[in-house]
Amino acid sequence: MDKTPKVTIAPAKGRLGILTPGMGAVSTTFMAGVIAIRKGLGKPIGSITQLGTIRLGKRTENRVPKIKDFVPLADLNDIYFGGWDIFEDDAYQSAVHAGVLEKTLLDQIRPELEAIKPMKGVFNKDYVKKLDGNYIKTGGTKWDYAQALMEDIKNFKAKHKLDRLVIVWCGSTEIYLKQHEVHATIASFEKAMKEDHPAIAPSMIYAYAALKMGVPFANGAPNLTTDFPALNDLAKETHTPICGKDFKTGQTLMKTILAPGLKARLLGLSGWFSTNILGNRDGEVLDDPESFKTKEESKLSVLEQILQPELYPEMYKGFYHKVRINYYPPRGDNKEGWDNIDIFGWLGYPMQIKIDFLCRDSILAAPIVLDLALFLDLAKRANFSGIQEWLSFFFKSPIVLPGLYPEHDLFIQQMKLKNTLRFMQGEDQITHLGADYYEYYR
Ligand SMILES: NC(=O)c1ccc[n+]([C@@H]2O[C@H](COP(=O)([O-])OP(=O)(O)OC[C@H]3O[C@@H](n4cnc5c(N)ncnc54)[C@H](O)[C@@H]3O)[C@@H](O)[C@H]2O)c1
Repeated sequence: MDKTPKVTIAPAKGRLGILTPGMGAVSTTFMAGVIAIRKGLGKPIGSITQLGTIRLGKRTENRVPKIKDFVPLADLNDIYFGGWDIFEDDAYQSAVHAGVLEKTLLDQIRPELEAIKPMKGVFNKDYVKKLDGNYIKTGGTKWDYAQALMEDIKNFKAKHKLDRLVIVWCGSTEIYLKQHEVHATIASFEKAMKEDHPAIAPSMIYAYAALKMGVPFANGAPNLTTDFPALNDLAKETHTPICGKDFKTGQTLMKTILAPGLKARLLGLSGWFSTNILGNRDGEVLDDPESFKTKEESKLSVLEQILQPELYPEMYKGFYHKVRINYYPPRGDNKEGWDNIDIFGWLGYPMQIKIDFLCRDSILAAPIVLDLALFLDLAKRANFSGIQEWLSFFFKSPIVLPGLYPEHDLFIQQMKLKNTLRFMQGEDQITHLGADYYEYYR
């Protein structure tokens, strides 16, 4: 087999700053988790970069290094945290408020968390109706706020003597926005910022500031944010990797694990009803129909793409798919997601599957923030730019180039991710053909 060319990757030398716009449940669970892991207080369960392995060459070669030993990733001890929020709480206060991690654990790392203080956010209530932040930048246009964010980024890097930065959006879900003509080019986008155009949401201003400075940007929420030509072009122009949207955690993770299996065995689907109750701030924000619409679009697209009803009409044409999210304060961050799945088999005989996933949202999301930050930093050092489709593995609604459909099947996404790492290091792609072990075609 041909060896693919080796990509030149700069070493992960020095300190990496990870900034999150939004320092709520997900962000603080991520930061506190990394600090706790560094101190030996827990293990990075769920993190591909920390615990994942990668097979190289033939099965008989027994070469299966850890991913972190195969590609040059930043070490957890070299990470420094920061962020923005619209409330002044430091990471300790915010983590206590979020109630995800036990206070006994948080108290063991309290000084480190208290040192992580948010910078003032760029916020506008028109885009997140349920929040009233008071710790925000005021008195400027959207263009001025972008400049202020760039100043923040520059100062943060200098003050903490950081070598590289990555930004991961962990802010609230904004209202549903469609692509608008101002999103077409960098020039129209910049003009619109100066005119305070309503099609420019706060998350886009953070993304613009990051990309302008060549800082890789991942979007953990379903907001449009970077998913349009102007910011894709800017990412290419400044050689900056981007990815998104919407961390793939609870119910959608289960969907993208189960649906490929049903399809592989050609079991039919007549309906999939998904409902959730959750009581954290994210749940409160999603109680607003306009923020929920953004989330709903992100969650609904998954099954259609995986099941391909146009190719398999007998099994999948016209299946009913419904997703509901209800805010239910007593549960806090511990969500419950029910799925009722009506399937059918041989001769159309009906069957049912029920899933009741009592999950912890931020516990599932935290390792994704870490993996995205480390992989984006790797991509930047490998000189990759623009949309990083190989990171689709982590998202509910992966961004892709116009004209491509997003790949939602978790196992195809995993193959894409690992083959990209093999490509970077000049290793053979793994096709799983395996015929040469048996010589049955000779
Ligand atoms: N937890 C999960 O499993 C999961 C999965 C997929 C996506 N997400 C998304 O991740 C995001 C964060 O989730 P969370 O549970 O941490 O929510 P959260 O409400 O606990 O935290 C969000 C934080 O963002 C802040 N914020 C809102 N607008 C801001 C702005 N313009 N600038 C700076 N800060 C801002 C809020 O004050 C809050 O502290 C949400 O958009 C959520 O939909 C979470």
